[in-house]
Amino acid sequence: MTKQKLLSPVIIIAHRGVSGLRPEHTIASYTLAIEQGADFIEPDLVLTKDDVFVARHENDITETSDVAKHPEFADRKTTKVIDGEKHVGWFTEDFTLAELKTLRAKERLPLLRPDNARYDGQFEIPTLAEIIALAKKHSVGGRVVGIYPETKHPSYFAGIGHPMEAHLVRELKAAGWDSASAPVFIQSFEVDNLKALHKLTRIRLIQLMDKKGAPADNATPSYAAMTTPEGFKAVAAYAYGIGPNKDMVDATLVANAHAAGLRVHPWTFRAENFFLPPALWSGVNPRAHGRLSDEIRRYLDLGIDGFFTDFTAIGVEARAASRSGK
Ligand code: G3P
Ligand code: CA
Repeated sequence: MTKQKLLSPVIIIAHRGVSGLRPEHTIASYTLAIEQGADFIEPDLVLTKDDVFVARHENDITETSDVAKHPEFADRKTTKVIDGEKHVGWFTEDFTLAELKTLRAKERLPLLRPDNARYDGQFEIPTLAEIIALAKKHSVGGRVVGIYPETKHPSYFAGIGHPMEAHLVRELKAAGWDSASAPVFIQSFEVDNLKALHKLTRIRLIQLMDKKGAPADNATPSYAAMTTPEGFKAVAAYAYGIGPNKDMVDATLVANAHAAGLRVHPWTFRAENFFLPPALWSGVNPRAHGRLSDEIRRYLDLGIDGFFTDFTAIGVEARAASRSGK
């Protein structure tokens, strides 16, 4: 495929909502993202005991909810091994949706984002259905707000009797979304999960990649092996694009991915100095905001096709400045 055919507007993906300004994966966070101009809102998806998709970054809800303060759930605390890592805490698959709805979200990074912690205890854990309804409610007047769901730990969930793929496709189809033109991308770090989805739907799929390690389903030896021209060609057989860790992205990676016909949507652009390269820090406080707009501009100059950010408004501003050449 030629580079010309890949040209499409750069999309801004609100990573867990505006998670720099509100606790992640809450309706408040997604709503602010939409208000700030996000093209897509990103829910990470896990399943409840009664097979309802809810938005959490992981099924372990110990750190991002107030579950530990609920004595009625004290006996649900347990130890699990997920993708080879031991976790001690509370897990979505051990709760019905009705039970999860009695919990409230907590800020994941209270030391870096103390202002977000002021919202602790206020917001519910949202369902995918609620997120779809939110995106549709705001898709008016010619604007389309899309969703960019990530299946979290799909092999693990399949292994405990909660396979995700057909269930997710059914729910999206019920929302009227089952084609390549639907305002939806489905993303995963695993491979076989995406290949299964490719057989079930024409919705665009994104292969996530990290700078080290390998997919948890061991479908390929490493993420690095996926970034060779041959690796990209194999990914292009089932995916529309890739979602690489931004630390992996350079001009060569973008060119090789585009040559294979893959779009490039790196993650995750965050304003706090802590997450920025030293040259873009403002002052010395890791919590203070540095020059995120400049960082995003550097990546836009490399030819990326979209990006995940915790700060939608800064992403919108950087994209506009890039387009106008300022
Ligand atoms: O999905 C893109 C990015 O969110 C991947 O990392 O861990 O934030 O889900 P994570
Ligand atoms: Ca994600």
